[in-house]
Order: sequence, then structure tokens, then C-alpha cells
Amino acid sequence: MQTIRSVDALRSALSVLRAGGGGVAFVPTMGALHAGHMALVAEAKRRAANVVASIFVNPTQFGPDEDLDLYPRREQADAEMLEAAGCALLWAPDAATMYPHGHATNIHVAAIGDDLCGAARPGHFDGVATVVAKLFNQVQPDVALFGEKDYQQLALIRQMVRDLDLPVTIVGVPTQRDADGLALSSRNAYLSPEHRIVARSLPRVLGESAQAIREGAAVAATLTAAAKELSDAGFEAVDYVEFRDVETLAPLTDLDRPARLLAAARIGGTRLIDNLAVHPTKGSPARSG
Ligand code: PAF
Repeated sequence: MQTIRSVDALRSALSVLRAGGGGVAFVPTMGALHAGHMALVAEAKRRAANVVASIFVNPTQFGPDEDLDLYPRREQADAEMLEAAGCALLWAPDAATMYPHGHATNIHVAAIGDDLCGAARPGHFDGVATVVAKLFNQVQPDVALFGEKDYQQLALIRQMVRDLDLPVTIVGVPTQRDADGLALSSRNAYLSPEHRIVARSLPRVLGESAQAIREGAAVAATLTAAAKELSDAGFEAVDYVEFRDVETLAPLTDLDRPARLLAAARIGGTRLIDNLAVHPTKGSPARSG
């Protein structure tokens, strides 16, 4: 596996890869890789002969009070994992290569980017959309893979790709979970053992709420009860528990189409997010709430 740090070298390496045929699948990351990322790489390998991964801790998606400096960086270990998984190329630019002096363009995906985590983290999704558009232009993949764990990010990227006619197929890969149900995330490393016990109530409460809605419970009351249960379990703040359309992320009051239950909550300075699919089954009761 080659590690590449300049756009010119990337273009040369990619033209050699493409000449061999079989397409290019791309896995963008910020490093600190775990089994969730490796599931993206495994799916990428099923989709194309050549897998390209990137590691770039993107400063523009971190707010002024967020953990940019503390964000785990371990490129050597990450590169070994990617190589063992069969990646052909690692794109690892530095900040000056990604944002040369004078960089002035920003992509804002309205509605999806302003809501939920976008409301709690102003500017975050502009940073994500802009860097992902740049990464797509640099790598020019046939397919790109993103985890469903960051469901709002996945929906935002799909919207951007549609709106800008970007020639890439976006594939969402199901969330990988630890044995206690907690969704894998690089930020789980920040949790103390006590906070970890609180954290695992997030997937539990989401699972119970999704089941209740499937069985016909009123949506609004279920969301209110879920937020209270998360607070009672020990979360210091519950940013949201929401029930949304799978594509537009518009609020839903009934399970009358494929939906997503999404939550964000904070414990010990760490902000955790999670989400679950909630699909209507034939004959499932439709209730207002
Ligand atoms: O999900 C991530 O790791 C990042 O948001 C991404 C997509 C690599 C953009 O920096």
C-alpha cells in the first residue's frame, strides 16, 4: 500500500490503479480506525478491485470548543490495518495541502445540515460537505462508503451528491457495535468505565423506543419518554431524540414510511450519537402523536 501526501502524486498513482481496471472504491476517514472503519473497507473490497482510504483530521468540521487537538492520531497503526485489509492506496494530506493559503469555498447543504447535530454544532456539516466534496474531486472514486452510525452525515452527503451531480455512488454500511450494544466510535475511547455504563443505555433506549413505535405507540410520547429515560440513566444532557424521514430527515409524527430514530446525548464531556432504522411493517398501526 502506498501512502500519498500530494495531489499530484495522488493523481499519478490513481491513473496507474485505474489502468488495471475494476474500479475504485473510497473510504474517507479521520483515522483512529476501529472495526467500524474496517467494515467499510471490507464492503469497499466487495464493490471494486481497488480500495483507496483517506486519513485527514479535518479542522473545519470541529467547533472552537471541540476536541480537534485531542482527537486521536495514530497514522502508523491505521496504515498497517488498511494494508492488511487490502487497501491499495492511503491518501493522507496535511491541512496545508487540503486547504492551501487563500482557500475560500464552502459548501452548505441547507435543511439537513442545519438540523439535529447541525443545530448543536454550527458549521460542522459545512466542514464535512466541503472536505468530502474535495476528497471526491481528488480521488474521483466510482463508489464511496460511509457508516450509518453518522446517519445525518450520510444523508447530507447523499443530498450533496444529488444536488451537485457528483459522479459517485454512495453506499451506507450498517453500524458496527460492541458486545454491550454501544456503536463503535473513535470517541468511545474518551469514556471512563462509569460513563461507559451510562453510554450503553443509548442503544438500549433507542431499541426499545423503535420497538414501541413499530407496535403502534404514539411517536411524540415515545420520544419524550426516551429523552427522560436517557437523563435518568445518567446522561448529563440529551441534545435530541428524533423520529425522521430516512432520506430528507424531515420530522415524522407517524410510522407511515421508512423512518430513522436518532439521538445525541452527552456524558463526561463526550457527545455520543446513535440511530436505528424503523420500517413500517404491513398492517402496522398508524397513530398520530
Ligand atoms: O466520518 C468521518 O470520519 C468524517 O466526517 C469524514 C467523512 C471523513 C469527513 O472528514
